Amino acid sequence: MALRLGFIGVGGIAQRHLGNAALRQDIQIVGHADIRIERAREAAAKVGGNAYDHCVKLLDQEKPQAVVICTPPDAHGDIEEACAARKVPFFVEKPVAVSLELAARVKKAVDASGITTQVGYMYRFSKGVQKVKELLSTRRIAMVQQHFYMPGLPTPEWWPFVERSGGQLTEQSTHMLDLGRFLCGDVVSVSARTARTRDWTPKPDSPRPGGMLWVADPFTIPDTTAMTLQYASGALGTLSCSMVPGTAWDAGFRIVAEGLIVTIDGGNVSWRGQEQGSMEAGENWVSYVLYDFLDSVIAGRPAQVPYDEGVRSLAISVAGYASVERGGKPVSTTRLLRGIL
Ligand SMILES: NC(=O)c1ccc[n+]([C@@H]2O[C@H](COP(=O)([O-])OP(=O)(O)OC[C@H]3O[C@@H](n4cnc5c(N)ncnc54)[C@H](O)[C@@H]3O)[C@@H](O)[C@H]2O)c1
Repeated sequence: MALRLGFIGVGGIAQRHLGNAALRQDIQIVGHADIRIERAREAAAKVGGNAYDHCVKLLDQEKPQAVVICTPPDAHGDIEEACAARKVPFFVEKPVAVSLELAARVKKAVDASGITTQVGYMYRFSKGVQKVKELLSTRRIAMVQQHFYMPGLPTPEWWPFVERSGGQLTEQSTHMLDLGRFLCGDVVSVSARTARTRDWTPKPDSPRPGGMLWVADPFTIPDTTAMTLQYASGALGTLSCSMVPGTAWDAGFRIVAEGLIVTIDGGNVSWRGQEQGSMEAGENWVSYVLYDFLDSVIAGRPAQVPYDEGVRSLAISVAGYASVERGGKPVSTTRLLRGIL
């Protein structure tokens, strides 16, 4: 029998997951909950299922066996707790929250229920990244150089507010910070600086290209961040992120390990040194993280990126902004996570 799947929050990224879930014969999409009911109706018209304006209505009326949560970063907590209370496994988009306090609250509920969870850190599943993981497993790592550049400000209305999106470190660069943890181990401390390098205030003639915004009012997040990271292994790392209007998406790594320099460009990878090669991410690779979740729920086993992993990766972003507030002094992620994990 097909797995009954529900969606909570069906805005931008949910469209990708809806499309990929709909491709599977072993999944029945039973409903969608969104506080903007028209979005839930649109999703229902597209892939089937019923529309609701609250997640509890979806959970109680459709009794899904799993749900996909794609709400904004500041709209977490009650939804995951409602799922955990009903023992409904969930996939949740990154970041798991904008604060560690809230993530700790959800973690408690998840642990008590024992449900399968998955955080949407899709880069871990690229075939190229899996190959890099294998190549690095026998080598000492010295340097983890990561970046995340964006061609402007994403359009969702919550994005320019630090208390809603968490800022670029939390909302976007979390992809790279998580991938760094996956490939190179945990981070124990970070120090960071942020800057506002341009005027984001709209002027009468400001260009407003559709895909990304070049203006925002008000705008409470920094547009550029530099961070240094200390890994538990002794390796050092850096993360640079910025949103420079009209440029291009550019997310990746250089990892310097004994005998090898690895380059990650999006999901594609290459390596040089004692060995040489390259590998692509795979066809429709952005679906793998969702499919691993669905397969895990069907098989009754844990998924590869459980909720705890999302909490550990969030701690790096939170530590980064805490360091900024302390003038760039190092902040220990180990200390931030004490009592939570
Ligand atoms: N993995 C990726 O590549 C990727 C890409 C884009 C976004 N994301 C993440 O996905 C999340 C959503 O981003 P988006 O761009 O789709 O945002 P969005 O604003 O386009 O969509 C969010 C939807 O959630 C709904 N919503 C808000 N609060 C709700 C609640 N309490 N209950 C039900 N619905 C609610 C909103 O009405 C909206 O339709 C963010 O955390 C973002 O970081 C991940």
